[in-house]
Amino acid sequence: MALQAATSFLPSALSARKERVSRSADIRAQTAAVSSPSVTPASPSGKKTLRKGTAVITGASSGLGLATAKALAETGKWHVIMACRDFLKASRAAKAAGMDKDSFTVVHLDLASLDSVRQFVRNVRQLEMPIDVVVCNAAVYQPTAKEPSYTADGFEMSVGVNHLGHFLLARELLSDLQSSDYPSKRLIIVGSITGNTNTLAGNVPPKANLGDLRGLAGGLNGVGSSVMIDGGEFDGAKAYKDSKVCNMLTMQEFHRRYHEETGVTFASLYPGCIATTGLFREHIPLFRLLFPPFQKYITKGYVSEEEAGKRLAQVVSDPSLTKSGVYWSWNKNSASFENQLSEEASDADKAKKLWEISEKLVGLA
Ligand SMILES: NC(=O)c1ccc[n+]([C@@H]2O[C@H](COP(=O)([O-])OP(=O)(O)OC[C@H]3O[C@@H](n4cnc5c(N)ncnc54)[C@H](OP(=O)(O)O)[C@@H]3O)[C@@H](O)[C@H]2O)c1
Repeated sequence: MALQAATSFLPSALSARKERVSRSADIRAQTAAVSSPSVTPASPSGKKTLRKGTAVITGASSGLGLATAKALAETGKWHVIMACRDFLKASRAAKAAGMDKDSFTVVHLDLASLDSVRQFVRNVRQLEMPIDVVVCNAAVYQPTAKEPSYTADGFEMSVGVNHLGHFLLARELLSDLQSSDYPSKRLIIVGSITGNTNTLAGNVPPKANLGDLRGLAGGLNGVGSSVMIDGGEFDGAKAYKDSKVCNMLTMQEFHRRYHEETGVTFASLYPGCIATTGLFREHIPLFRLLFPPFQKYITKGYVSEEEAGKRLAQVVSDPSLTKSGVYWSWNKNSASFENQLSEEASDADKAKKLWEISEKLVGLA
């Protein structure tokens, strides 16, 4: 753990020699700091063995992210880089989950700060581990907030963390994924049914709607522009749903722009309703009390954190889930299937516009 603590706070000066800047038009094959080839013919039986994969998971300190980290670590085939804003909480959570100390490394990441995202990318490269899979999982949900709160860069918090922080992270780490020699490299952005208005859950008001993205284009800062993507009045629940539409559109735009060029599989998913996670921590107490039984016994959409973690771990590692551009869901028998996104969450023109505005906001264009 001491080593993990040390590596998570590496001084930026040390990282300068390895700093690589990824630009949208400039994704090149690079020599990664890979310590071992992906396939080693070294086993005594002469069988080829796959080296351990390395997966970066944001928000791995609780809920779905932690359950996924645990599921991957337990296979003995994955090392998880837990990208978390609270180092101690993440370390304790991994320990409490029974994860072997050699199966994970905690690296500090606060998605509410673009500087922190850039620093995370430098620190993670200092580890000199290949990056084979990146999972953009962390999220904030502020359904009862009366007033907006803001990231360090002045963006409304839900969209700033859930979409813009992850957008920069994913763009920066794409070149690392591309240079990994792992057989199946993947970038996964966790979506949600609540952003999909072609479902019952997605039709519970307030509904997701990005409109013409005028608020986002204005910087989402409430100064001369709205804090909401569509330019409307602040609504914390809607801001979360909008951010999930952004996540699903971003995954598809990555697929269109980079799947062929890089060989990376881009995917999103709805893991099911994990009604017990910390995501609902800001909801009113009565909601927190009634939501899990409602999901378990009425809608029957409930899944445990453990089951949801296995589902996301499947999207990370299952050799049969290599199709790119897919939004995965699971049926009642826990079998995965390619789900349909709503009209807005699959609008290619909107995805392109979202991409172009987002890259300006995070300083990539
Ligand atoms: N719960 C559900 O029913 C459900 C359904 C569909 C999709 N999802 C999606 O599943 C994902 C995980 O949610 P969850 O239910 O597992 O919720 P959760 O337990 O609250 O986990 C969210 C994680 O995000 C982290 N996080 C929040 N703000 C951050 C920031 N600024 N920088 C870095 N990390 C930050 C949290 O860190 P801390 O531990 O430090 O707070 C936590 O680890 C989200 O993308 C959510 O949209 C959830």
